Amino acid sequence: MKFLFVNGVNLNMTGEREKGVYGTQTLDQINAEISVHFKGDKCEFFQSNIEGEICTAIQSADKNGFDGVILNAGAYTHYSIAIRDAIASVKTPVIEVHMSNVHAREEFRHKSVISEVCRGVICGFGKNSYILAAESFKL
Ligand code: DQA
Repeated sequence: MKFLFVNGVNLNMTGEREKGVYGTQTLDQINAEISVHFKGDKCEFFQSNIEGEICTAIQSADKNGFDGVILNAGAYTHYSIAIRDAIASVKTPVIEVHMSNVHAREEFRHKSVISEVCRGVICGFGKNSYILAAESFKL
């Protein structure tokens, strides 16, 4: 299968920021582990702090025949109508993921504007949230 893992704003700081919440591994290290886990599949990785670039990545996954997008939009999850509309505009299924359990955190993280246009939501399993999301395409 062909998966695109998209990480949004501030996820490039993983391993450096709030280590108690997001762990000590960098995003590159996490992505390397994901590649090993899915060694029989094609995995591509994209990170951007820019909302529009995330929208373009979602659109390009659809145009390039990806089976699924695994999206951690970071804080954009909670308010980006542009990312929501990008997800709604493509046929490729998108799964929303978060490393932390957003429902056990601040109230403003409980609201997602993208969940209703995503195939599903996985949160709270650290780096394994990405793997669990992609594994769901194989069930
Ligand atoms: C996050 C949760 C978001 O609320 C936060 O803004 C992030 C990371 C997570 O992976 O747990 O940047 O998406």
